[in-house]
Amino acid sequence: STAKYLKGAFFWHLDGTTDDVPVKATTLTARQVAMTGGGTDFAGTYAAYESLPEKDRERYESLRVVHSFEAAQRLVDPDPDERELAVRRSRPTHEVSLVWRRRDGRRSLVIGATADHVVGMDPDDSRALLDELLDWTTQERFRHTHDWQVGDLVVWDNTGILHRALPYDENSERLLHRTTVVGDEAFA
Ligand SMILES: [Fe+2]
Repeated sequence: STAKYLKGAFFWHLDGTTDDVPVKATTLTARQVAMTGGGTDFAGTYAAYESLPEKDRERYESLRVVHSFEAAQRLVDPDPDERELAVRRSRPTHEVSLVWRRRDGRRSLVIGATADHVVGMDPDDSRALLDELLDWTTQERFRHTHDWQVGDLVVWDNTGILHRALPYDENSERLLHRTTVVGDEAFA
């Protein structure tokens, strides 16, 4: 169901990692908010990359990562039935550089829930590295939490900021409207 797939929003992610050109910006407007919880967390992938030790930056330079819907849904439900697994696997996967070389010369990390594995790396090492990089990026110093008030409008750079929804009471009437700005820079 759609509700099931939306649960993926509770895990750190960038929108559109399986597209060649991801969404440039996402805006959320709060129409109704949860009584408790339901904030949105952000973490900067430019600052996280730039703060890595130089030897790590060099090591990551040539790594490629396969992103998939399946990887993101594995976090929601790690033990799907065969039919569900087939649905997940029917979605396209996308291989991109771990380090996105931006047109303006800056670099940022492409990680998050859809990061399935590092190409050519032992699966355990790959998982450990992707988890480690996510932990690094979502440290307090690169992170911001927005607690919603009705009428708030938040706009963020989806290409350089991971986001996730924080848990809230399922009975609350939380309603956020989302608008996206078409991207103009391909992963590279
Ligand atoms: Fe999202």
